[in-house]
Order: sequence, then structure tokens, then C-alpha cells
Amino acid sequence: MKDFIALLPKVELHLHIEGTLEPELMFALAKRNNIDIPFRTYEEVSAAYDFHNLQSFLDIYYQGANVLVNEQDFYDLTWAYLLRCKADNVLHTEIFFDPQTHTARGIAFDTVVNGIYRALVQGKQELGITSQLIMCFLRHLDEDDAFVMLNHALAHQDKIIGVGLDSAELGNPVEKFERVFQQARKHGFKSVAHAGEEGPASNISDALTVLQVDRVDHGVRCTEDKALLAQLIAQGTPLTVCPLSNTKLKVFEHMADHNIVKLLRQGVCVTINSDDPAYFGGYMTDNFNAVADVHPMEKAEIAQFTINAINASFISAQEKQRLL
Ligand code: ADE
Ligand code: ZN
Repeated sequence: MKDFIALLPKVELHLHIEGTLEPELMFALAKRNNIDIPFRTYEEVSAAYDFHNLQSFLDIYYQGANVLVNEQDFYDLTWAYLLRCKADNVLHTEIFFDPQTHTARGIAFDTVVNGIYRALVQGKQELGITSQLIMCFLRHLDEDDAFVMLNHALAHQDKIIGVGLDSAELGNPVEKFERVFQQARKHGFKSVAHAGEEGPASNISDALTVLQVDRVDHGVRCTEDKALLAQLIAQGTPLTVCPLSNTKLKVFEHMADHNIVKLLRQGVCVTINSDDPAYFGGYMTDNFNAVADVHPMEKAEIAQFTINAINASFISAQEKQRLL
């Protein structure tokens, strides 16, 4: 099955570009930009990446992003991720970026987008990997700041397909972002939101009704509400599930406890994704293997994750046909 998974064409729909910052690049950029980081060795990094919940990860993840300063840094980060995509036979990827993590440090929005986008254009030309960009609002920040980001995004609408919502789910309900999502949709942006990762099933329902999202990121706690689960199945709402992230952040204690294969068999449009692979121990192939190792599946079931991801992606019907 390992060979089958390695060769399987893949589509990634839940990937934070800042979460692909490998320690090696973090050290190199810290040196290049003269930025202080709290780690000196790989051992110190791996000791620090021992998370017990989402917040304990986010604290380290936002700190790591401090080394990203110049357009070239964002380009280098994205190019390194695209090379991993090539190795994992990822044909198409829809990438999140968190502009507020950077603008709060005085980095221009354009610096972030232009650096990422330059790598994506090259990725299509040289690696044959297609991509889309999704701008996420940080949900621990306020509505005004989200609107500032939306205005920036409007000037880059040729590069950005949609908006998302990430960061700390607990204590940050979606209502604060109802108006900014409504405005984004009016301008033609697609929308997604993290929900039901650490928070209850009602957060998933709220993301669907209040924000009217096209996909739910994570969403694994949907099983706690039978009516919601039935609705997700009936409406074909995609869930972008991240298995290694979920075990690293203790959403599930063990991969054997993970519900992704059960959800697949119940007919939910679940997909496999890597979330923040540099922090959670693996890219796409690693995530597929981690699930398949403890949840025996037929080849057709494993391939269904890719078919679901193609159907759930924000590409044209024609592009979907090309991938299917
Ligand atoms: N930002 C990066 N990864 C995240 C996750 N798994 N949940 C919420 N916000 C995030
Ligand atoms: Zn995420």
C-alpha cells in the first residue's frame, strides 16, 4: 500500500504556508535577516514542538514566522513547499496564508503575496503544479483588522481565490466575521473556515449558516451532532481533515481513534491534508500513510480521498475533468 500511496495523485486543500517553515530554513532566514529565535539546535526545535493543544502550537508557530521578512523569504518558503508537493505527487494545492501575522510586524501585504505568488507561477511552469491562494483572517483579532486585509486582498484578486478563518477556535466564535465574509462573498471570493477542530459541532453549523462557507477546515467533531452529520452528507459539504495535525494537537489521542475513515465510509466528503507539515511531522504522503497504517482500506477507498479533494477544490469544471 505504501507504493500505491506514494504514486497516488494528490490534491491538497488545507495547508498553511507559514506551517511549512522547516527548521533548516528557519535557521537560514534568521541568520539572513538578523532575527533572534529561541532555538539554536535541531534538538531544541524538536523539544519545543511537543504540543498539547492548538494554542501551545500557535504560540510557537507565530514566533517561527518572525524570520519571514522580505519577498524573497516568502518565495523561498513557498518554493520549498512546492518541491515537497512534487515529491509527493501533489498535482494541485490550495494554500492558506495569514497576512496579519506579517503586517503586525510591519511587513507589507504586497511583500507577502508577491513572494508567495512568484513561487506559485514558477511551480506551474517548471513543476506542473497548479495552485490557488486563500487569505485567512486570524480569528483572535478584530473585525476592523479583517476588513483592512479584505481591502488589501481586493487589490490582488487576480491572485487570491478565497478567504478563510484560522487561529484559536475556542473563545472566538464566528459571529465577529459575519460581515467581512459577506463582503468577501459579494466580491466573488470563495470562503472556508476552521471549525470543529477543538471547538464543538455547533461551530461547524455556525460556519455554514453564519459565514456560509464552501468548505469546512477540520470539522472532525461533526460526529457529535447527528443532524449536522446527516446534513454534511446530504449536501456534500467538504471537510479538509488533517490527520497528523489532529494527533499532534491531541484532537485525537491516537491515530487509531481518528474518525476520518469512518466518515469516508458514511459518505462524508472528507479529504486528507497536511495543515502545518513542518510542525506536525509530515507532508501529504506521510498523512495518507499515517491513516492507512492503522485503518486498513481498499485502494479505491484511499483513492476516494483524492477524488473528494478534486471535487472540493476551487478549480474550474474543466480543470477538475483534467485531474479526474
Ligand atoms: N493556523 C495554522 N494551523 C492552524 C490550525 N490547525 N488551526 C487553527 N489555526 C491554524
Ligand atoms: Zn489549519
